[in-house]
Order: sequence, then C-alpha cells, then structure tokens
Amino acid sequence: MKTFILAFSAVSPVLAGFDTWSPPGPYDVRAPCPMLNTLANHGFLPHHGKDISREVTENALFEALNINKTLGSFLFDFATTTNPKPNATSFSLNDLGNHGILEHDASLSRSDAYFGNVLTFNHTVFEETKSYWTDETVTIQMAANARQARINTSKATNPEYQMSELGNAFTYGESAAYVVVFGDKTSGTVKRSWVEWLFEHEQFPQHLGWHKPTEMFQEGDLNRYMELIQNLTNTEQPGPGCPQARSLKNKRTRRASHFGA
Ligand code: HEM
Ligand SMILES: *[C@@H]1O[C@H](CO)[C@@H](O)[C@H](O)[C@H]1NC(C)=O
Ligand SMILES: *[C@@H]1O[C@H](CO)[C@@H](O)[C@H](O)[C@H]1NC(C)=O
Ligand SMILES: *[C@@H]1O[C@H](CO)[C@@H](O)[C@H](O)[C@H]1NC(C)=O
Ligand SMILES: *[C@@H]1O[C@H](CO)[C@@H](O)[C@H](O)[C@H]1NC(C)=O
Ligand SMILES: *[C@@H]1O[C@H](CO)[C@@H](O)[C@H](O)[C@H]1NC(C)=O
Repeated sequence: MKTFILAFSAVSPVLAGFDTWSPPGPYDVRAPCPMLNTLANHGFLPHHGKDISREVTENALFEALNINKTLGSFLFDFATTTNPKPNATSFSLNDLGNHGILEHDASLSRSDAYFGNVLTFNHTVFEETKSYWTDETVTIQMAANARQARINTSKATNPEYQMSELGNAFTYGESAAYVVVFGDKTSGTVKRSWVEWLFEHEQFPQHLGWHKPTEMFQEGDLNRYMELIQNLTNTEQPGPGCPQARSLKNKRTRRASHFGA
C-alpha cells in the first residue's frame, strides 16, 4: 500500500519548483525555447506544455526568474500570435516552433527549418555557439559574436535563409536573455557552465551554484542589453534592408496585421 501511494504521488502533476524536475513524456510538448522548456520540466509551466494562459506565464516567469509581470505579459502576447487558433488567449509550447512567426533561422541550439527539427536541441549547432563562449564567464561580447557567427553560417549554408525584422529582434532578445535574465544583469555576464547546462539539460543548474536572480528583471533591462549586443556586433554597414532592432516595442503585432492587411 505504501509503495502504491508513493508511486501515485510521484506522477502527480501539481509538483513545481527548483527541486522538482522531470523530462517531457510522450504526450508533453516542448518549444524551441530552452528556458520555457526548463520551466515546464520544473513544473513552473504545466508539464504537458499545452494551453498556457497569460496568468500562468506571468507567474512562472516571476516565480522562477524574477521577471516583472508586465514584461511577462508583453512576452505572452507574442506567444499567442503563434497559436493557429484565431484570437487565441493561450499558447502551447510547440506553437512557438511554427516557422516564420517568432521562430527564425540561425538559432543558437536548433537547426534551421530547412535542415531539420526546430523544436529539439541540435548538438552540431550548439557546438558552434559554444565555440564563441571562450572563457568560464560568458560576456555580452561573446554572446554578440556567437549570435553573428550563427547568422553567418546560416546565410552561407541555408539556401532558404530568412530573417524577418521581428525574428531579428528576437535574436537580440534571446542572446541578451541567456546572459542577463538567466545570469547577472548588473555585470552583464553569466557562468558558462550554467548556460551550457541550461541548454543541454533544460534544467536549472542549482548544483553549479545558480539561484533565482534577486533583482527584478525589467523591460528596460532587456532593451538596454539588446541595444548593447547590436552595438557590439561587427557587421558590414547596414543597408536599407538590414533589420535593426533596438527594442521589441511596436513589433507586437497580431498575425492579422503583421502578415497580411
Ligand atoms: C513567454 C516568454 C517567452 C517566449 C514567448 C519565448 C519564445 C521563444 C521562441 C519562439 C524562441 C525560438 C526562436 C528561434 O530560435 O527560432 C525562443 C528561443 C530562446 N529563448 Fe525564449 N521565450 C520566452 C522566454 C524566455 C526567457 C525568460 C528566456 C531567458 C533565458 C529565454 C531564452 C531564450 C533563448 C536563449 C533562446 C534561443 C534558443 C536558440 O537560439 O537555440 N526565453 N524563445
Ligand atoms: C514592471 O514594469 C512596469 C512597466 O515597465 C513598471 O511600471 C512597474 O513598476 C514594474 N513593476 C515592478 C514591481 O517593478
Ligand atoms: C477575432 O477578433 C476580431 C477582432 O476583434 C473579430 O472581428 C473576429 O470575429 C474574431 N474572430 C473569432 C474567430 O473570434
Ligand atoms: C543538426 O544541424 C545540422 C547543421 O544545421 C544539420 O546538418 C543536421 O541535420 C541537424 N540534425 C538534426 C537531427 O536535425
Ligand atoms: C560574420 O560575417 C561578417 C561579414 O562577412 C564578418 O565581418 C564577421 O566577422 C563575421 N562574424 C563572425 C562572428 O563570424
Ligand atoms: C549604442 O550605441 C549608440 C550610438 O553610439 C549609443 O548612443 C548608445 O548609448 C549605445 N547603447 C548602449 C546600450 O551601449
């Protein structure tokens, strides 16, 4: 009887927290985003990954990462644009992989849609990214280099390479996020061992000394670091067709207005 009770509680889906973790099961869905997958594996987001509401998103980002709920809500609005249902008020993690809405080429750990699965971790792609994290402490400059290197590789190898203005803004946001949302927004750095663990295991690395940030992460922090990555990116003179992204504001568009009318 005791064994039965223990076995039963072990599959209870209500468990959530830094000390709770299990990988996705066969009916669970996951995203091209290593952080949202981590939150689902820990139960901060529903472990099944489906039909996630605004409130659940805001609370998960706040509880696990100390992200301002206004910023969480702002990010949720982007997420719902990937739900194929019209006027959706929720999203599922796999919706985020729908190519060309938020999901873009030249990801740090996923292959381009042209080459393979954009939802799952790709070892080859991530090895290239990691080769630019050249010290035990990853800086914003290293993140800028890794981002640009992945873009260069995709441009050189993917005959269907594409980068929308919104996708490009997300590349800056994502590179900022793994350094200063997950790492330290004051120094603008993150421990390489932490960020490698996050991508490779989709689990919070408390055993390596990581803990929830003590300071709240604000939209202004995100904009500042997106701009800094852009400043630190060494590209050819941007031409008129080269998308620039100083913030995500004014890019929040429903698919109806973004892709069509
Ligand atoms: C509701 C909130 C969020 C949404 C809707 C979201 C959405 C996405 C999407 C659609 C991608 C795939 C882009 C692509 O590579 O094609 C992505 C990637 C990524 N996200 Fe998130 N994300 C959220 C929160 C976060 C947070 C809080 C972090 C903090 C570390 C984060 C870190 C990343 C990183 C580092 C990537 C790049 C992965 C790669 O290039 O392989 N995300 N996210
Ligand atoms: C969250 O961000 C909003 C808008 O940027 C700001 O007005 C609000 O004060 C912030 N909340 C906290 C608790 O810092
Ligand atoms: C979605 O919202 C728009 C604008 O509010 C409305 O015109 C349309 O009928 C809605 N569609 C559905 C399927 O609810
Ligand atoms: C991983 O990415 C590489 C480089 O884009 C690609 O050649 C390979 O097919 C991908 N692997 C899988 C399993 O998608
Ligand atoms: C990307 O390509 C540009 C233009 O060819 C080059 O200037 C830059 O150094 C490359 N960046 C990286 C990180 O490979
Ligand atoms: C980026 O560069 C511009 C132009 O030089 C400068 O005004 C801005 O302060 C820089 N931003 C950051 C965050 O360093």
